[in-house]
Parts: sequence; structure tokens; C-alpha cells
Amino acid sequence: MEIKKANNLSCPLCGLLLQLSEKQHVCLNGHSFDIARQGYVNLLPVQQKRSKNPGDSKEMIVARTEFLNTGLYQPIAERFNELCHELTVGHKDESEGVCLVDAGCGEGYYLQSLLSHLERAGTEREVSFIGLDISKPAILAASKRSKKISWLVSSNKQLPVLPGTVDIIICMFGFPVYESFKESLKPGGKLILVDAGQDHLLELRNIIYPSVNMSDASDLAGAEKSGFDMYSDSRLTYAVNNVPNEQLMNLLHMTPHFFRASQEGKQAVSQLQSIDLTVDVVFRVLHASHPC
Ligand SMILES: C[S@@+](CC[C@H](N)C(=O)[O-])C[C@H]1O[C@@H](n2cnc3c(N)ncnc32)[C@H](O)[C@@H]1O
Repeated sequence: MEIKKANNLSCPLCGLLLQLSEKQHVCLNGHSFDIARQGYVNLLPVQQKRSKNPGDSKEMIVARTEFLNTGLYQPIAERFNELCHELTVGHKDESEGVCLVDAGCGEGYYLQSLLSHLERAGTEREVSFIGLDISKPAILAASKRSKKISWLVSSNKQLPVLPGTVDIIICMFGFPVYESFKESLKPGGKLILVDAGQDHLLELRNIIYPSVNMSDASDLAGAEKSGFDMYSDSRLTYAVNNVPNEQLMNLLHMTPHFFRASQEGKQAVSQLQSIDLTVDVVFRVLHASHPC
């Protein structure tokens, strides 16, 4: 596989193509965006920010990196890699390049794992990888995982790519914005949604909530309205035993459960030595079909 830097980035201020000059991305209207020392680019103008520091905090990112680096979610990455491999390598003419965008990539664990997987697979295909997140601490951490990926501070609400130029958008445990995703995808492009299933971390949720909400992954009415059809649907369920307290606390900190859990619940978790957990994850691939 030849990894190409993304050549379809668009200016967040006027939408024109961003050209790469020495240390900047610049559009024909003269809007310029510096490449930071760590290699990422901030394409989130202040007018698109709802708060000073949007997205996950530095503490959440550190907790997520420590947790993901233990490998306890590696089976999720492996399933995800197989799915992307099939969609990337299997379905099109080898001479055509592929552009993949991880929208809400966090600290980059899954995109970096995918890149390594596709490199090992040894296809001839040219692939460009874009990882974006609204959280600057997330993108700073992601920049350390790989220099081959275009890491961007940006929002799912306005993906900074030219319309109709992306083959696959990935949204893992994230916040899909279907209209913006649809506009960015090529006709027939795919959206991979990875979400918690109803039994995900059930043992932990039983401790932190007085009553547990057993709803499954979010419904797809919004996606259908924006012109997506279901392409495939699968599930991965497995057990991880004896998760030590340190990783359990990281897990709690890296998810919205931390903000929703009761004080007593968090206290009870902090006193556990270890716990057995169920991982239950739903993988849905949507196909960008008819126009919105
Ligand atoms: C639960 S985390 C998942 C991160 C990563 N996909 C993973 O699975 O490790 C959700 C991520 O979405 C990001 N986020 C929230 N709102 C966003 C938006 N409007 N655009 C892009 N990213 C967003 C957060 O900063 C956070 O990193």
C-alpha cells in the first residue's frame, strides 16, 4: 500500500481546495493554516467553536490512551480492520486511490491500527488517511501515533474535505453528522458506525447507575433521511476478566459514564480491586445511496 497525504482538504472558511505549501495549507483566497510542530493542522475556526476547549479533555484522552494501550479493546480494532480491509481492498479497481476519514478519531488508536493492518496486507492501492477530532488534546496525542496520517482539529459538522471525495468515513463511539458525512462521501461511499451494544460494560453500568438503560445502538432514522442505506450489520461480544482497578478507572474516565454516574457509583467503582466485563459492540456499515 502506498500511503499518500490527503490532497482533498478544503478551507473551513471558504470551502476552496487547500494546497500544501512548505509549512502551511493555503487556499486560493489566501486563507492559511499552519502545520503545527507535532504535524497536525488546526482547521477549526473560532466561529465554529461552541466553547473554548471543545471535545474530550486532556484527562479523558490520557485515560483513553492508557486503557487502549492495554490491548483490552484489540478485538474491536481487529474486527474493524477486517471490515475496512474488505471495503478498501476488495471492492474497487486497484488503480483507484482510496480516502479514509476517521471522524471523531480521539487519540488515534483505531486509525493507527488500521494503517498498520493495511500496510501488512501489502495491497498496491494508494490510500490517504485523515483523522479528525474537535478536541485539540486528542489530536495532539494522535499526532504521536503516526506521522503518515493527516491529523486535523476539526468538526464532524463541517468535514474539511472537498464534497464527494471520500470513500469511507469511520465514526467510532462518536457523534455522526449524517448530512455533512453524506456530502463528503463519493456516490456509493461507505459510513462505518461502531457503537456500544446493549450489554456493553453492563457490569460497570450496574454499579454506577441506580437503573440501567438497556437500549441498543442508536436508531438510524437520521441516517436514512440523509440518504444512507444499511449495507451490513454485525456484532462483537466478548468477556474481559479481572480488569484491574487502574484500568477500570481509566475506562470510567474515558467515557461519558464519568459525567453521568452518581457520586456513590463512582465511589463504589474506585473501591473494586478488579472486575469482569462484557464488551458488546455493534458494527454497522451504511451505503451513501440516493441524494438527500
Ligand atoms: C467517545 S470518544 C471516541 C474516540 C475514538 N473514536 C475512539 O473510539 O477511541 C468521542 C470523540 O468525539 C470527539 N467529538 C465530539 N464532538 C465532536 C465533533 N462535533 N466533531 C468531531 N469530534 C467530536 C470527542 O472529542 C472525542 O474524542
